[in-house]
Amino acid sequence: MSEQRTWVIDCLQKVGEEVLLKGWVHVRRNMGKLIFIDLRDRSGVVQVVCLPNHKEVLAEADKLRPEFVVAIRGKVNARQEKQVNTDLATGTVEIEALEVTILNSAETTPFEVTGDSKTVNEELRMEYRYVDLRTQRMQRNIELRHNVNRAIREYFTANGFWEIETPVISKSTPEGARDFLVPSRKFNGQFYALPQSPQQYKQLLMVGGIERYFQIAKCFRDEETRKDRQPEFTQLDMEMSFVEREDVMALIETMLIQMVQSLTPEKKIQQQPFPRMTYADAMNNYGTDRPDLRKNKNDPDEFAFCWVIDFPFFEKTEDGGWTFTHNPFSAAQPEHREWLMTKEHIGEILTSQYDVVLNGYEIGGGSIRNHQAEALNRVFEIMGYPEEKIQEQFGHMMKAFSFGAPPHGGIALGIDRIVSIFAGEYESIREVIAFPKTAEGRDLLMNGPSAVDQQQLNELGIAIKPKK
Ligand code: AMO
Repeated sequence: MSEQRTWVIDCLQKVGEEVLLKGWVHVRRNMGKLIFIDLRDRSGVVQVVCLPNHKEVLAEADKLRPEFVVAIRGKVNARQEKQVNTDLATGTVEIEALEVTILNSAETTPFEVTGDSKTVNEELRMEYRYVDLRTQRMQRNIELRHNVNRAIREYFTANGFWEIETPVISKSTPEGARDFLVPSRKFNGQFYALPQSPQQYKQLLMVGGIERYFQIAKCFRDEETRKDRQPEFTQLDMEMSFVEREDVMALIETMLIQMVQSLTPEKKIQQQPFPRMTYADAMNNYGTDRPDLRKNKNDPDEFAFCWVIDFPFFEKTEDGGWTFTHNPFSAAQPEHREWLMTKEHIGEILTSQYDVVLNGYEIGGGSIRNHQAEALNRVFEIMGYPEEKIQEQFGHMMKAFSFGAPPHGGIALGIDRIVSIFAGEYESIREVIAFPKTAEGRDLLMNGPSAVDQQQLNELGIAIKPKK
């Protein structure tokens, strides 16, 4: 095992002791007789001084350039009061280098990592994401994301939920966006679809008697990328049995409040319990179904959550038919269930859908589901699906519901959006994703999507036709 290495930040507790530090050269200042190195690891930056009485140390330190990787053995000295650097978390100490070992050299990076990379061209940042990830802001964002995921896991585990992984190569799901397709080699001409969400599987888990499920799930939607949208994103997905709308909303509201209190205690939640608004009121009063209820939009610490409920179930399509507004698996509001079953007053049927909004962003949405096959069937009939198409696309759900499906409901929250708002990164969710895609959906680091070998195409039975 390697010798115990000390994190930079822990030097504060080790005054007078010898430590072994490992990290990157953040800044090097050659003062002639002395060389100062700001050494950086994930925990922070500390000043190292190479003194003239340690000749070998000075000679080695002279070779250092920014972003070289080094191991430095040194003594932790308290700084004199005048020398304390209040800009640095470790500003009360300084490391006197006793041994410097270069672990790796580094080319000049395409942009500096000592500052905030926000001013750097974003495509360059994405091409060199591993360099960008070294900046302090990005490290804090990624750490916050980890803490959000951890808080989710703790909360749901404490409430009796099981974390279950659902398939990623599966069948097309109707969530309203275009699917990413994966060609099957074994079944020529057939395709898997990457899930737009685990919607159907989580409902099948409820039929399977799991009762309380959650997952931090990757979802895929081939839609236009925007600042709050990525083709590949992450949901906190959950579903529970024997519940009503109030139960799911209360559980999620408590989680969000606890998360804000523990992870971003500086944020003030404007109103608790979260205000609720019908879709009609939101549209009439704010002209949007994601109202930004902040009193002072310039206050970075103001958080205004709200719930939007009572959405219409169906909306008119261009050709005069009907389509669902949110989720075809949702149940109608109990008082409108009869209308759904008899296919009357279709435009007036309200769904059990609830959306949760934070500072003008939709961070989540869910509903109570139709757990009876006839009701689900009615939804597709209203949308004009012929019986064969319903059977072909959703027969498996109808069949499952005929084997004792419990009443159930759930929600999914967009983790990328939550983390970006918690981090104050309103410009784009890309700032809280380790390896995001560009607005055109490209991965500039790996250079995807890319062409594949002719042999791979042959195996799949695929011939590329130039697009007209
Ligand atoms: P919905 O489609 O509303 O619901 O998605 C839930 C939440 O996921 C986030 N989200 C996205 N985040 C980043 N990029 C995207 N392209 C993207 N699309 C959605 C949003 C959104 O509120 N199966 C249902 C949930 C349910 O009913 O339980 C669903 O996926 O924050």
